Amino acid sequence: MHRQYLHVEGRTTAYFDTAPGRADLPVAALIHGFPLDASMWEAQLRHPPPGWRLIAPDLRGFGGSTDVEASAPSIDDYADDVVDVLRALDIPGAVVAGLSMGGYVTFAILRRAPALVRAIVLADTRAGADSPEAREGRRAMLALLDREGPAGVATQLLPRLLSEHTRQTRPDVESGVRRLTKQQSAQAIRGALVRLMTRPDATSELAGCAVPALVIVGEHDAITPVDEARRLAGGLPDAELAVIPHAGHMANIEQPDAFSSALAAFLARL
Ligand code: MLT
Repeated sequence: MHRQYLHVEGRTTAYFDTAPGRADLPVAALIHGFPLDASMWEAQLRHPPPGWRLIAPDLRGFGGSTDVEASAPSIDDYADDVVDVLRALDIPGAVVAGLSMGGYVTFAILRRAPALVRAIVLADTRAGADSPEAREGRRAMLALLDREGPAGVATQLLPRLLSEHTRQTRPDVESGVRRLTKQQSAQAIRGALVRLMTRPDATSELAGCAVPALVIVGEHDAITPVDEARRLAGGLPDAELAVIPHAGHMANIEQPDAFSSALAAFLARL
């Protein structure tokens, strides 16, 4: 698995592409969560659903993508990163799949470039904006980041990202997510926290969503629990829900086979 690089408007965007140049294959774009990068999709990228091309960009500042100084950082910046990659590769339409922060980016893509979106997959995410308490938590995390860097963020987040089952039975998953978090720059994590806490509420847009949707959630997701996923699926006109047993918030990493099967079954029905 190695990254490809695109240079658009003075910026480098890195991405994984499971079938470069295969214009004949339908595309699903995978958008990573916070505070990771596109390599969190490794299990899915290694075994793409039959007949599909997967493209997974690193959002600005994360992984191999360069950051850009933004005077008013917005979740829309990340949507533009994904759209830029699809347009640069001449991909006229794609299924857009995002996990957690990637789900917030999916909503932003639906607002900014709806014609590009064939269907959506919303994994371990929510439509609502941050509550005042959640914003307070983001501010505390910004302070933690200043004090202890990405390693401090990893230590605080990990118990909430993974299910108890994963932590007990798959220490490699825990160390992998910790390593991935520590690899990210403090600047990228800072930019993401600001974008997360200022993202708009997408709840009122759900009913108008014109494309099929799959909502996926880990059975033990502590950040966006199953009830939240049910509400999300219930608010969309054409949605199905898949609950992944034994998984927490990072369902695609914790239970890659079950996650990939749910994704493949949905894509096969499109
Ligand atoms: C994520 O996994 O992307 C984060 O949990 C998103 C968030 O903190 O809202």
